Amino acid sequence: MRFRRAAIIGLALLLAAAFCSGIRAEDQNRGPETLIINGGRRGNVRLPHRQHQQRLKDCRICHRFFPQKGGSIEKLKAEGKLEKKQVMKHLCIHCHRKRKKAGRPAGPVSCRTCHKRK
Ligand code: HEC
Ligand code: HEC
Ligand code: HEC
Repeated sequence: MRFRRAAIIGLALLLAAAFCSGIRAEDQNRGPETLIINGGRRGNVRLPHRQHQQRLKDCRICHRFFPQKGGSIEKLKAEGKLEKKQVMKHLCIHCHRKRKKAGRPAGPVSCRTCHKRK
């Protein structure tokens, strides 16, 4: 009897731990659903952030270039740690072009489909 009670308590604790870690994953700050990136004189660029998170799964694909913080691309460019158009060429267009070539769903590769002048 003693053993059975211990087993039940153990199981309850295990379930509680699983439940809590589930909540924590949900609580992770995923940032906004859609982002507007400063695109300089060409006009701003809209990034469907959530759509990319769901498609690409791994946050680091983008966030190894810049932190998970609004305005960080701008800041790194101002500090000379990122070149102008570096993110655009080596991240955004690079991936879209590669996928398009492979015949997979991809994002835009022409200037005006990304940059919008108001
Ligand atoms: C396709 C590229 C891309 C992917 C993938 C991506 N992000 Fe982002 N994320 C961005 C960009 C761009 C910004 C805005 C940076 C800026 O404003 O300079 C950003 C900003 C953020 C911010 C800050 C928002 C704010 O307003 O301060 C958070 C938080 C964030 N991302 C979380 C995540 C998480 C979590 C994942 C993975 C589940 C993820 N991102 C995947 C591109 C991406
Ligand atoms: C997939 C989307 C996308 C496409 C296609 C694209 N851009 Fe960009 N562009 C961006 C993003 C995001 C930025 C901001 C980050 C950066 O500078 O790397 C940017 C930044 C820029 C800047 C500003 C750089 C600065 O700091 O002053 C210019 C100018 C520019 N792009 C021109 C172009 C031209 C010209 C084309 C077409 C040949 C083009 N872009 C195609 C997404 C795109
Ligand atoms: C590693 C690959 C990858 C990277 C990096 C990436 N994208 Fe994409 N992008 C995609 C894919 C895949 C789609 C098509 C999604 C779909 O059809 O569901 C897409 C679609 C898009 C679309 C069209 C969304 C729509 O359905 O209207 C835009 C706009 C876009 N991307 C902008 C960007 C910008 C800006 C960046 C850089 C900050 C970027 N992407 C970086 C893979 C990528």
